[in-house]
Amino acid sequence: MLGCLTLFVAPSSSSSPFVSFNFNRLSHFRPSISLPSTTDLLRTTSRRLILATKKRSVSTMANEEENVKRKLAKLFEVALKVTVPSVVDVEPLVAACTGKFGDYQCNNAMGLWSKIKGKETEFKGPPAVGQAIMRNLPQSDIIESCSVAGPGFVNVKLSRNWMAQSIQRMLIDGIDAWAPRLPVRRAVVDFSSPNIAKEMHVGHLRSTIIGDTIARMLEFSRVEVLRRNHVGDWGTQFGMLIEFLFEKFSNWEDANEAAIGDLQEFYKESKKRFDSDPDFKERAQKAVVRLQGGEQKYRKAWTQICEISRNEFNRVYQRLGVQLEEKGESFYNPYIPAVLEELTSKNLVEDSQGARVIFLEGFNIPLIVVKSDGGYNYASTDLAAIWYRLNEEKAEWMIYVTDVGQQQHFDMVFKAAKRAGWLSTDDNAYPKASHVGFGLVLGDDKKRFRTRSSEVVRLADLLDEAKSRCKTTLIERGKGDEWTEEELEQTAEAIGYGAVKYADLKSNRLTNYTFSFDQMLNDKMGAIVLDHADERALGLHLLQFSEVVEEACTNLLPNVLCEYLYNLSEFFTTFYSNCQVVGSAEETSRLLLCEATATVMRKCFYLLGIVPVYKI
Ligand code: ARG
Repeated sequence: MLGCLTLFVAPSSSSSPFVSFNFNRLSHFRPSISLPSTTDLLRTTSRRLILATKKRSVSTMANEEENVKRKLAKLFEVALKVTVPSVVDVEPLVAACTGKFGDYQCNNAMGLWSKIKGKETEFKGPPAVGQAIMRNLPQSDIIESCSVAGPGFVNVKLSRNWMAQSIQRMLIDGIDAWAPRLPVRRAVVDFSSPNIAKEMHVGHLRSTIIGDTIARMLEFSRVEVLRRNHVGDWGTQFGMLIEFLFEKFSNWEDANEAAIGDLQEFYKESKKRFDSDPDFKERAQKAVVRLQGGEQKYRKAWTQICEISRNEFNRVYQRLGVQLEEKGESFYNPYIPAVLEELTSKNLVEDSQGARVIFLEGFNIPLIVVKSDGGYNYASTDLAAIWYRLNEEKAEWMIYVTDVGQQQHFDMVFKAAKRAGWLSTDDNAYPKASHVGFGLVLGDDKKRFRTRSSEVVRLADLLDEAKSRCKTTLIERGKGDEWTEEELEQTAEAIGYGAVKYADLKSNRLTNYTFSFDQMLNDKMGAIVLDHADERALGLHLLQFSEVVEEACTNLLPNVLCEYLYNLSEFFTTFYSNCQVVGSAEETSRLLLCEATATVMRKCFYLLGIVPVYKI
C-alpha cells in the first residue's frame, strides 16, 4: 500500500460514509514506476518548490489576510458609496455563488433602488443601479471580470492568477494564514459536563464531541479557549453515596476504584438503600449537611468518590482525544452568596413562598436561586459561574453545550445576567453567552438510545464496539496479514471513533439523531457523480475554507464544516479523475493543488477531532 492517503468522509444525505482517495491514482499510474510513493514524491516536489518560492517571496510572514468575501466586500463598499452617495452606511451584501457567471455576487442593487426610488435619481431601476455599481468597482487584481444579471446582481469572477497565487502563498505561510478573525479574545466553552457517580450517557457524548469541535474551531481562529468541564459534583446525591460508602467499607479510606468497582452500580445500590430504609435516608440527608458544612471526614469521602468518576471520564476523553479542564459545580459554591447579594442589591431577587427567586419577563415561572430549605441549586451555581467567568477569567463569550431540554434554564440564567448588566443586551455584542443545544440521541426504535435491556449505554462500551466493528472489517479485507497489530489497532480506533464523531457532527445539531453503527461504519462506496468540475472549482472551494470556519464558529454549527469537507472531497475526486497530475505538462501546479487540498483537509479533520488514516 504505497502512498495511499485515505480520508473517510460522509455526506449528510448518503449512506456511504467512506470515500477513499488513492494518491497512486493521481498520476494515472504507470506501473513501471515503483520507487517512491506518489505521496512522498508529492511531498518532496512541493517542499522543493515551496522552498524555492520562499527565497523569492518578500512578505512570507504577512499572513494577516482578509478572506475573499471580506476583500470583495471592501471593494463593493467603495463602489456603493460612489454609486449612491446620498445613502450612507450601506452594508455590502456579498455572497459566494455557484453558477457559470460568477464566483461571488453583490446583491445590493435592489435594496438601494428601494431607497432612492421616487427621489431625484439618474437610475431607472435596479439593473441600472447594478450596472453602476459594477462600473464603480475599484480596480483590483482579485477580479477577472464582472457582469450584471437579473435585477441588478453583480457577478464577480475571480482572477485565476490571483487565486493561484493566494493558494501558493498559503502553502508557504501555512494554513494558519487562513484562520478567520473573530472579535473575541477569550471564550469559555462549557461542555461534556457529566454528573459524578451518575451515568455519563450519549447526551454527554454529544456534548463532548460538539463542544470539542467548537473549541477547536475557536482556537484555530486565535481565540483563547477555556475548555470547562462543569461536572455535577455537588448535588444532594452525595449524602447517599457517602453514607453508603461508610456502610459498605469499614475501612472506606482505603476503598479504591477496584474495590468500589463500577460507580454506576454503586449509585444504584445506594439509591435502593435510600428508597427502602428510612434510617439510612435520614443519615444520608444529614451527611449532605455535614459535607456542605465542610466536615473533614465527609469532604474526604466526597473527594474519593469524585476521583473515581473523574478517572472514568478521563478514559473516555483520552480515547476521543478531547482536552477538558474540570471546574465542577462545587468550585463555584463559595461565590454564590456574594453573587446573590449583588443581584439582590440590584433589586432582582425577591422572596416567593419561602424561596428566593428572580422574576423574568417572558417566562411564566421564576428562576429559583435559593430553595425553600435554604440550599443553592443549579441556577445559583450557573449565575456564580457566569460571574466568575466574566470577572475572574475575563471571558468575553461563554458557550454552553447541552441538550435542548436545558434551553429554558439557560435562557433564564442569561436573561438574569443581562438584567444585572453583566452581559450585553445586544445579542450581536460581547460579552455574551450562548446556549448550544442539541437533539436527543435515538435508537433504531426512535426512542431514547438504550441497550436492549433498556439500560443507559456506557460510553466505553460504545467506543469498544465502534472500534471492534472496524477492526473486523479491516481483517475481513485481509489487513490482518498485511499490517502489524499496532497499525490495525490504530486504524480501527481512528476510523471507529472518527465515525462516531462524524455521525454526531454531520447533521444540524438541533435535530434528533439516530444512533446506528451500521450506518456510521458503512464503508461501501456510493455512486460517484462526475460534474464538470476542474482545478478552478477545487481552488475556489479551497479559498472558501476560512469563510466556512468563520460561519461555523459564528453560528456555532459544526455541520457547516462537515459539509465543506464533504464537498472538498467531491471537488477533489472530480479534479483527480479528470486531470492527469504526474507526468503532465501542468504537473507542478497540480501537485501544489493536491498539497493544498491535503493541507485544508487535514485541518478540517483536526477541527472535527477526527484522526485521518493514511492507508486502508
Ligand atoms: N451536568 C449537567 C447535566 O448533566 C450539564 C452541565 C452544563 N453546564 C452548565 N454550566 N450548566 O445535565
